Amino acid sequence: QLDASCTHGPTRRAGAVAALEGIKTPSEVARLVLKYTDHIMLVGEGAKRFALSYGFKDEDLLTPEARQLWLTWRANRGHADDWMDVPENEKMVVRPTGTINLDLVNARGELSSITTTSGVAWKIPGRAGDSPITGAGQYTDNDVGAAGSTGLGELNIMVCGGFLTVEHMRRGMKPTDACVETLKRVIAAAPPRLIGPDRKPLFDLQFYAVNKRGEFGAASLYPARYAAHDGSQAGLRDAASLYQRSS
Ligand code: GLY
Repeated sequence: QLDASCTHGPTRRAGAVAALEGIKTPSEVARLVLKYTDHIMLVGEGAKRFALSYGFKDEDLLTPEARQLWLTWRANRGHADDWMDVPENEKMVVRPTGTINLDLVNARGELSSITTTSGVAWKIPGRAGDSPITGAGQYTDNDVGAAGSTGLGELNIMVCGGFLTVEHMRRGMKPTDACVETLKRVIAAAPPRLIGPDRKPLFDLQFYAVNKRGEFGAASLYPARYAAHDGSQAGLRDAASLYQRSS
């Protein structure tokens, strides 16, 4: 199930899809919701019918690698269930991730943002994360800037992080500082069960931002890199981080 949303700053329009199945490019479908409807979000079967009506192909998106990861995850969920644990010498699975947020400004200072994802792996069917939510997974105000997020979406939704980051920039913060400030708000809002005994979060979350002048930045709870094109060249950069991983 895939989620995506986008905002086009100059026209102040947004589009989104959530829990879309069988369509490989949910961000493209979200863009058509923005362009051809006066709705903002379509979900599930309705989103799929909308995509098929525009000629998108219905495909089986499960790769053999993803299926193998899922089988291993299922076998290792717990000792008390009916599945035999995968032997210890077989590699344990880290939950795969795959969200992309893209925030853009052009030479005329026009801004846009887009976020697309397959969401949290092994989620409960029907779960929609932050990515399809305009104001959380991504947000653009054409007068100010654009921002978006990757990482555990539920924690972003709690603070409307895309919107909040843009609001921090509206009050004069640089993009990186705005992202850091939003992460601090996330930590303040995080439920105790997601904070470890060392007072560090048991999840990760990133915010990315660009302002109307083309300044950009990112922040992550734990060290991370992000890709940026500064107008002349693309490269990987270190995001600001709030915590170090325990060794
Ligand atoms: N941020 C992606 C998700 O939680 O689905």
